[in-house]
Amino acid sequence: MSGAETLFTNISQLVTPRPGPQRGAAMRELTVLEDAALLVKNGLIEWVGPASAAPAAAQTLALGGRAVVPGLIDPHTHAVWAGDRLRDWEAKLGGATYEEILSRGGGIRSTMRATAAASVPELVRLARPRLGALRDSGATTVEVKSGYGLDFDAELRMLQAVRELQAEFELIPTLLIHVPPEQGRAEYVQGVCNDLIPRVAREKLAAAVDVFSEQEAFSVDETRAMFEAARANGLRFKLHADQFHAIGGTELACELGALSVDHLEASGPAQIAALAASGTVATILPGVTLHLGLPAAPARQLVDAGAVVAVGTDLNPGSSPAFSTQLALALAIRLNRLTPAEALTACTVNAAAALGLNDRGSLSAGQRADFSVLHSPDWRDLPYTLGASPVADVFIAGVKQ
Ligand code: NIG
Ligand code: FE
Repeated sequence: MSGAETLFTNISQLVTPRPGPQRGAAMRELTVLEDAALLVKNGLIEWVGPASAAPAAAQTLALGGRAVVPGLIDPHTHAVWAGDRLRDWEAKLGGATYEEILSRGGGIRSTMRATAAASVPELVRLARPRLGALRDSGATTVEVKSGYGLDFDAELRMLQAVRELQAEFELIPTLLIHVPPEQGRAEYVQGVCNDLIPRVAREKLAAAVDVFSEQEAFSVDETRAMFEAARANGLRFKLHADQFHAIGGTELACELGALSVDHLEASGPAQIAALAASGTVATILPGVTLHLGLPAAPARQLVDAGAVVAVGTDLNPGSSPAFSTQLALALAIRLNRLTPAEALTACTVNAAAALGLNDRGSLSAGQRADFSVLHSPDWRDLPYTLGASPVADVFIAGVKQ
């Protein structure tokens, strides 16, 4: 159903935030149009308004009196991996912590061993149904990170797998520098800066560089070096920070103009103030709170302080086996105390901003025609529903998936 021009009608409610990143109270300011219509031309929204004022169009598609919401944008996933973490999970249920499992060579390092041993076709085959599940949950753009390769060739294979999947999904690839090698970490960071980042930039394999800043991972100084290399090679940068300890990564990321800082479970007043005063998006990942039993990131305080807050699944085998972006939205309300309107803004225009995009996330003229039709006539079923999909149909650039 691409068509040069399609008028979507019989929409009980059409709900949307304004385009562009929204901070503080503006995150709650949605437009809700009853009995609406939506005109799509060449993959972009041409017009939105009351059905009674709809322009004529070459073809019309009636949506059955159901609600339409913007396509969700998942700004943080690790959807490419091999192996599993089921034994780690059992160890965790038996009392071991995530960090203990990692420091004895399990956790992320066990996923790295399995992923580094997998071929590109194998990685593609494994990731495809995960990305399908995210899309079925309403996600029309999904960020996917490398980071389970460790050695550079394996990192490049992960990014190659993402590139191949871009034929089927709307994906934004990120080079993640995840955990340091057990030996030779200074040389590793140097190689990342002088070799891996320039190569990834040259071959356009990623739009941004992400680093895991944590006691068990990279220090603030190492992170700074990698951010500077990203910038020198024309790539944006972002950070996993404050998951377990606030070691200064958030402040560094805000100072250098990172796209986003993600996790934030251990953020305190200083990190909240730094994010609120910056253009860096604060991305929270409620699936991690649920699965690891970590404290919830202080999203309520972040919004109230004026930060741009986004939500993602962090889909990965270790800390967040959450295969639904809609579930992440719904959990952010229960676990992080966002309102339903804030959560929708967090999962749409603010998530787009976390990826450096401003052409999507809002159902407004000029934006990409990425949207979902719910089963329900009431958009509030999107944030309300747990454990089943409220999403009936997903359209990307006006085309039904
Ligand atoms: O975002 N915290 C670091 N990295 C991932 C987890 C990866 C894993 O456990 O495999 C995260 O939570
Ligand atoms: Fe992550």
